Amino acid sequence: MIENLTGKVAVLTGGGSGIGRAMAERFGSAGAKVVIGDIEPAALDEATAALSAAGADVHGVPLDVTDPASLDRLRNEALERFGAVHLVCANAGVAPIGMIADTSLSDWRWVVDVNLLGVVLTTTAFLRNLTGQGAGHLVLTASLAGLTTAPGLGPYCATKHAVVAIANTLRAELTGTGVGISVLCPSLVRTRIFESERNRPEALGGAAVETGPARTFFQQTLSATGISPAEVAERVYEAVTTGRFWVFPHPDEVLAAAEAHIADIRATIGG
Ligand SMILES: NC(=O)c1ccc[n+]([C@@H]2O[C@H](COP(=O)([O-])OP(=O)(O)OC[C@H]3O[C@@H](n4cnc5c(N)ncnc54)[C@H](O)[C@@H]3O)[C@@H](O)[C@H]2O)c1
Repeated sequence: MIENLTGKVAVLTGGGSGIGRAMAERFGSAGAKVVIGDIEPAALDEATAALSAAGADVHGVPLDVTDPASLDRLRNEALERFGAVHLVCANAGVAPIGMIADTSLSDWRWVVDVNLLGVVLTTTAFLRNLTGQGAGHLVLTASLAGLTTAPGLGPYCATKHAVVAIANTLRAELTGTGVGISVLCPSLVRTRIFESERNRPEALGGAAVETGPARTFFQQTLSATGISPAEVAERVYEAVTTGRFWVFPHPDEVLAAAEAHIADIRATIGG
C-alpha cells in the first residue's frame, strides 16, 4: 500500500495508451512522478507530452517487455531520473483473436512472451529494489479472462490465468516485506486492445489480423459495453492507496463468472 502518492515514483509498462496511460494520468494527478515504458513510439511520445502538459513530472522510455535488457534500462532510467521507484505496474498486454485450432505457434509465443513472461520480467526487474527499501507496491494487469474463459481468446485467457496465479503467489511471498500487490481484473475497457497486432514483431507475423466473426463480436461488444480507462485507473488508485489485492472494475461480471464456476464444480461433484 502507498497511502499518499505525492512525490512517489510510479513506473508503468504499456503506459503509452489505454489503461496504462490512464493509470499514469491518475497517479500523476495525485502528485506521483511517472515513468512510462511502451513499444509504440508515437503513443509513448504523445502520452509523455500529454502528461507533462497536465503538470506531471514524467519520463518516457522505449520498452519491449519481452526483453530483459530493455526492462533493466527502464529500471535504471527511472532510478537515474527520480532516485527511487515505489509503484510498479506490469500492464503491457496483447490480445489477438482467433480459435485455438487456428492459432499459430508464433502467436502463442508472442502472447506468452508479452502477457506472461513480460509480467514476470517486469516484476523481477523491480522486486529487489522494492523489497530492499521495505516499501512499495506492485500492480499486475490480468483480466476477467484470468478468472474465466472465452472462445476466440485462448492464448489470452491462458496467460491471464497465469498472471492471476503469479499475483496470488506473490501475495503470500511478499507478506511481511512492506511491499503490497494488487491484481487488476477488468472485463471490457474501451482501448485498442483488439488492435494489438499493430505491435506484433515482423518475425512473429507482423501486423496481419484475423478477420473472422470472433473479432467482429469482440470489437462490437467492446465498443458497446466497454467502460472508460479512466474508470479503471480510479479503481487501481483506490487499491494502491488502501492496500486492496483484487481490483474488480466489473464486480457483477466477476461474481457471475465465479458462481458459474462453482455451480459447474458442484454439478460434477454433487452437493
Ligand atoms: N481493454 C480491455 O478490455 C482489457 C480488459 C482486461 C484486461 N486488459 C489488459 O489491460 C492491459 C492494457 O491493455 P489496454 O486495454 O490498455 O490495450 P492497449 O492496446 O490500449 O494498450 C496496451 C499497451 O501495451 C503496449 N505494448 C504491447 N506490447 C508491448 C511490448 N512488447 N512491450 C511494451 N509495451 C507493449 C502497447 O503499445 C499499448 O500501449 C493489457 O494487459 C490487457 O490485457 C484490457
